[in-house]
Amino acid sequence: MTEAVRIRRIADADWPGIVELESRAYAPLGLSEGREALESRADASPGTCFALDLGEQLAGYLLALPYPESAYPELNGPERGPSPASRNLHLHDIVVAEHLRHRGLARHLLRHLMATARAHAYEQISLVAVGGSETFWSGRGFAAHPGPPPAGYGPTAVYMSRTTGPSTTRTTRPVTVPAQEPEKWADAGAPRA
Ligand SMILES: CC(C)(COP(=O)(O)OP(=O)(O)OC[C@H]1O[C@@H](n2cnc3c(N)ncnc32)[C@H](O)[C@@H]1OP(=O)(O)O)[C@@H](O)C(=O)NCCC(=O)NCCS
Repeated sequence: MTEAVRIRRIADADWPGIVELESRAYAPLGLSEGREALESRADASPGTCFALDLGEQLAGYLLALPYPESAYPELNGPERGPSPASRNLHLHDIVVAEHLRHRGLARHLLRHLMATARAHAYEQISLVAVGGSETFWSGRGFAAHPGPPPAGYGPTAVYMSRTTGPSTTRTTRPVTVPAQEPEKWADAGAPRA
């Protein structure tokens, strides 16, 4: 049995599910933002924010929006107005549902983001790694910036970035994933992020 993996734009009906995923991932770290702030990030850049479905199920999401290098959203409030023009795209948030982790779904979302960023002429992607996730990000080509932890993201947070690389017309394509076979499927035929 296989279930189709689909990455698409976020719809209004997704927000309860996204808020639930976000809360489960970040409330234990004291970093949960709540719906108003999350929606404001997506409203600032709908074309770089995605929902990921596995079959009929919301399996994860990704929020990215333009921010100048070294800047990042304040976690305790919504975006204040439109994002300033920037060649740096900030990957603010990515979550995959707990029971669907370790199947390559986050990497699939990241490849999609990378292709989208290149198509929109972003030159760099930044993020704030939290919860000890910087090894995941360094494995995806992100490098830590020196300096203190970004304000408001906890004492172990690390600001990281990577270039988007050369422009390409290639985009991620629909895939199917065996429901019971974790890992190994998502890299087939797609460039690494
Ligand atoms: C981080 C996250 C998005 C990864 O999703 P995923 O779909 O399981 O990731 P992938 O399957 O593509 O990659 C898994 C690999 O990434 C690495 N990895 C995943 N999470 C990691 C973490 N928190 N720290 C270090 N490495 C991690 C591991 O090497 C893992 O390999 P394994 O499956 O052999 O153990 C998911 O764990 C999650 O939603 N976490 C909660 C939210 C979060 O921390 N987001 C990032 C904040 S900056």
